[in-house]
Amino acid sequence: MKALVYHGAGKRAWEEKPKPEIKNSTDAIIRITKTTICGTDLHIMKGDVPEVVDGLTLGHEGIGVIEEVGGSVSNFKVGDKVLISCITSCGICDACKKGMYSHCETGGWILGHLIDGTQAEYVRIPHANNSLYHIPENVDEEAIVMLSDILPTGFECGVLNGQIKPGDTVAIVGAGPIGLATLLTAQFYSPAEIIMVDLDENRLKVAKTFGATKLVSNNAVEEIMKLTNSKGVDVAIEAVGIAATFDICQSIIAAGGHIANVGVHGKSVELHLEKLWSRNITITTRLVDTVTTPMLLKTVLSGKLNPGKLITHRFAMNDIMKAYDTFGNAANEKAIKVILS
Ligand SMILES: NC(=O)c1ccc[n+]([C@@H]2O[C@H](COP(=O)([O-])OP(=O)(O)OC[C@H]3O[C@@H](n4cnc5c(N)ncnc54)[C@H](O)[C@@H]3O)[C@@H](O)[C@H]2O)c1
Ligand SMILES: [Zn+2]
Ligand SMILES: [Zn+2]
Repeated sequence: MKALVYHGAGKRAWEEKPKPEIKNSTDAIIRITKTTICGTDLHIMKGDVPEVVDGLTLGHEGIGVIEEVGGSVSNFKVGDKVLISCITSCGICDACKKGMYSHCETGGWILGHLIDGTQAEYVRIPHANNSLYHIPENVDEEAIVMLSDILPTGFECGVLNGQIKPGDTVAIVGAGPIGLATLLTAQFYSPAEIIMVDLDENRLKVAKTFGATKLVSNNAVEEIMKLTNSKGVDVAIEAVGIAATFDICQSIIAAGGHIANVGVHGKSVELHLEKLWSRNITITTRLVDTVTTPMLLKTVLSGKLNPGKLITHRFAMNDIMKAYDTFGNAANEKAIKVILS
């Protein structure tokens, strides 16, 4: 079969690899029908994720059809259409029982990280019973791909941890796929204002059509304090992953507010406790658990949520090298999510 294989920083190839086989009775083999590329895959390609070894197949998102199941897979049978969660979870360890699938003792984020991932013709999914979801017939399958990672990430790490309430003023810093997924799911809770912050004017334009009420590009702190009569925001969501944007969140948070960090940080940030100690704020961090996937799937199937609008580019699976080039140059290509079929 063909797979997108990592060969060290900056080196990747769409090449022949043996088809995966069942290793444990809880495994399923999936024939991938659609997948996508994540910003995290670009980080891996830069060499920022040292656990990823030469020869690994990348990708942690996608949908497909069950090709084979191990003896103890009871929820799925050959031929079923499934959504693959970016988080693999056994469902029975201590972490899983707390709903913290991301810290599953024998799972977590392993696809395209520690084991071969979804950017291939076939993938082996461990703990299939708890890590796959049924896809009904006659649905927008491209939209469903957005549920592998970005929708639960924006919703769990941003919206739920930020505790958005009706009438809140929310700022989302970063209008990439994750920030935009946060914007879409924040609207479940009817905040009064959603201020979207990004340096990329095109992404801000997209955010406007997705429900942002205010857009901010430069001088974010000054602009947001002006927009909120110097009060700041009830919820500040960091969806970039750098010190500068975490700093914006610290500077715009209102008394009693919530800062929800979503971004993956490679460097330390300065925590301004000298200003924040008395402000009754909460700071949260989270690795996506994907425990809300069944709920999000229902909202997509009912038409309440349409994450298909995040897709800007489509490629054949065989053109994945080109898709990486396009996604890697997202600002110029005006790319948000690419779909490979
Ligand atoms: N916590 C989790 O479980 C989890 C899961 C998936 C992704 N993430 C992380 O979420 C973050 C966002 O992911 P993404 O795929 O949307 O990334 P992305 O790189 O596509 O988007 C980031 C956006 O931030 C904007 N930006 C950069 N610097 C800025 C600045 N100084 N001020 C304002 N905007 C700025 C960019 O223009 C871009 O639109 C990443 O750090 C990613 O690793 C976290
Ligand atoms: Zn991802
Ligand atoms: Zn577990």
